[in-house]
Amino acid sequence: MRLLLVFPLAAMSMYAQHGDAAGKPAQNPAIGDPAAIDAGKKLFAGGCGGCHGPDGAGGRGPSLRDKVMWHSLDDSALYTTIEKGIAGTEMPASRLPAAQLWQVVAFVRSLSSPAAEMNVPGDARAGETVFSQAGCVNCHARQGRGGKLGPDLSNAGATRSYPTLRESIVDPDANGAVGYRAISVKLRNGQELSGVERNRSNYSLQLQDRAGAVHLIDMADVAEMKDSRTSPMPKDYGRRLSKPDLENLLAYLSKQSLRPVMAEKR
Ligand code: HEC
Ligand code: HEC
Repeated sequence: MRLLLVFPLAAMSMYAQHGDAAGKPAQNPAIGDPAAIDAGKKLFAGGCGGCHGPDGAGGRGPSLRDKVMWHSLDDSALYTTIEKGIAGTEMPASRLPAAQLWQVVAFVRSLSSPAAEMNVPGDARAGETVFSQAGCVNCHARQGRGGKLGPDLSNAGATRSYPTLRESIVDPDANGAVGYRAISVKLRNGQELSGVERNRSNYSLQLQDRAGAVHLIDMADVAEMKDSRTSPMPKDYGRRLSKPDLENLLAYLSKQSLRPVMAEKR
């Protein structure tokens, strides 16, 4: 902490030396800490958001939410990249002192870590009630119970990051899951069907209705087709849910994780 008083530019090289000589701790306490992530988010919005988007979704710089978009660096390599920038690219060196840099690292980490591994705010028990009351359960199943129109969420916390879960709820069209576009068709025999598109070629279409039944439709039988290209998930949850309800709901979803099969092996 003493070092924070050092002039920022001088501090940069000092930290580099310090890091090399003494070695950085295996895991900085900022990683996974909600307060640090929050502080890092503000720093990120100010110093990095201009290029990477205020929420890390990308812009002039790559999206940091998808690990395929950037090198999957360990925490200390990520620290060094942010500290020094990437020579020959637009990515600049940062002048933040170490404690704040670690907060930024914690935030960047949180963008792509599974929500189940994060220490998320909110009350998961209360969130389960919201899940029922807000109607999520009508379209989403967990552990085999619930609706079938939307993806099964039994493993949502283990396979999605916290910001991705949040965005799925408040802005469903931003990141729609593949294979779940709303579609309605009218067949030549007059029958009308609507649901989500699961598969489609020039010759056939698989449509899953609200009850979960999958209809295999021959394209030659289709008289009219309306394909909204947007998610059938309601768009107004961001307004409808109170802030604490949304937080609790996210806490609940973050906990949805199937025990990994690997853990059962020796
Ligand atoms: C002027 C634009 C700009 C600013 C400001 C900026 N970046 Fe970048 N950043 C980039 C670009 C461009 C790349 C991709 C570089 C490349 O081609 O490898 C990048 C790459 C990255 C990567 C990926 C590194 C890798 O090895 O794949 C991380 C992480 C990152 N930036 C974090 C940050 C953080 C944190 C900040 C704020 C402290 C920040 N960036 C500020 C433009 C910027
Ligand atoms: C009318 C049906 C419907 C309702 C109600 C609904 N969803 Fe969805 N949801 C969907 C569909 C369909 C998708 C897949 C398309 C997409 O990603 O937008 C989806 C996607 C999602 C995803 C992303 C899943 C993934 O695989 O990435 C999450 C998380 C989610 N919903 C949570 C909720 C929550 C929480 C609620 C209640 C507040 C809710 N949904 C209400 C239909 C619904």
